[in-house]
Amino acid sequence: MLKHFISKVCGKFIFAPRIMICIPSQVTEVEKKAVIDAASQAGARKVYLIEEPIAAAIGAGIDISKPCGNMVVDIGGGTTDIAVISLGGSVVSTSLKIAGDKFDEYIVKYIKKKHNIMIGERTAEDLKVNIGCVFPKIQDTEMDVRGRDLITGLPKTITVHSSEMLEALIEPAMMIVDSVHSVLERTPPELAADISDKGIYMTGGGCLVDGLDKLLQEKTGINVMIAQDTVSCVALGTGKALDNLDVLEGKARK
Ligand SMILES: Nc1ncnc2c1ncn2[C@@H]1O[C@H](COP(=O)(O)OP(=O)(O)OP(=O)(O)O)[C@@H](O)[C@H]1O
Ligand SMILES: [Mg+2]
Repeated sequence: MLKHFISKVCGKFIFAPRIMICIPSQVTEVEKKAVIDAASQAGARKVYLIEEPIAAAIGAGIDISKPCGNMVVDIGGGTTDIAVISLGGSVVSTSLKIAGDKFDEYIVKYIKKKHNIMIGERTAEDLKVNIGCVFPKIQDTEMDVRGRDLITGLPKTITVHSSEMLEALIEPAMMIVDSVHSVLERTPPELAADISDKGIYMTGGGCLVDGLDKLLQEKTGINVMIAQDTVSCVALGTGKALDNLDVLEGKARK
């Protein structure tokens, strides 16, 4: 698959390309080596690794080369990466397996328990994107979904309200908030003060769940901003990092 994408981007190349690959912040040395080996075998001349939150920060337009603290919370599909970044590297970070896909799972479980209806993960994602919320909405919204009635075994349509989504999603959302809290607790005081001045940046598709920014802001007392082009932040940041390898020297490695 890697080979396919390399040839798609580079065409028929004379020189093997340099490749930068994004990895979650908490991967082990063995996992890093596996990524480098796979890319080398797929035809890379040189492989650079960059941690996802750092790429997300660059993609969000943050100048990470300065000696001040920046906090990035990147909520993807599989993982949420939380990091405090300063001088081009992460100072404190954590990665948890609670993100967009887990939110979908919680919705499936909730609908099954409350309505006795089994819905698929795609339907759950539709509910999350359209009426999902983790902070009370001023106006309740609703959506009709189809699932299988667990008692009769037949298809059934039900109306789901955004207030129900709040009940379903508050638990995983609070797990993310608690992790942000624990990263802040481990952050050196000067950097924590910078974060409190500048705010927390949220990136990744998962942060688009309605009210996640408000919930984090309420629980931490720190201003929370959703980055522009949030879904593409990591990809954009990785591209920019490859253009400015000198800045990341020592952080991106072969
Ligand atoms: N408008 C939206 N509202 C709520 N969730 C959304 C929205 N758009 C995308 N998502 C969710 O964002 C998640 C994907 O985000 P993203 O593309 O950042 O993940 P990823 O980078 O592929 O995953 P990972 O970082 O874990 O490897 C999915 O769970 C998707 O349902
Ligand atoms: Mg991601």
